[in-house]
Amino acid sequence: MSSDFDEGIEEIKASTIGDVQEAEKVIDKWLRYIGEMENPEGHAKITGPCGDAVEMFLRIQDNKVTGARFLTDGCLTTIAAGSMACDLAIGRDIKGAFKISQELISENLGGLPEDSVHCALLASNTLREALTDHLTSKGQRWRSIYKKP
Ligand code: FES
Repeated sequence: MSSDFDEGIEEIKASTIGDVQEAEKVIDKWLRYIGEMENPEGHAKITGPCGDAVEMFLRIQDNKVTGARFLTDGCLTTIAAGSMACDLAIGRDIKGAFKISQELISENLGGLPEDSVHCALLASNTLREALTDHLTSKGQRWRSIYKKP
């Protein structure tokens, strides 16, 4: 890993996520979920208003998310948020995965500073778009499955 990456991890430990043990867990997950996936059942790439992009790949079997990977050129918080989105999605059915919101991602990261909340929104939106891509490929409409609370 580059020294920038290592420095970023230290930065996250020190500031973005308050609890160091939680930060260590999140960092492990970063490495687990970063990467592409061949022939995903759901795929999306979204560029946020800040200009950063998140690309997400989903493995979906029997209506359940069984695998998730992502790529981003975004900030370190986006890496943590994308990773958390993948982690939260795996094991959920499609309806449950649609409920992975910006707030849920942020909460599971131990809370994010106000100016980083949009990074969690980008991860959540990309996940939902990848789920929608899957449903579209099956001829289903997301509105029939996901209704906003
Ligand atoms: S600053 Fe662009 S997604 Fe985090």
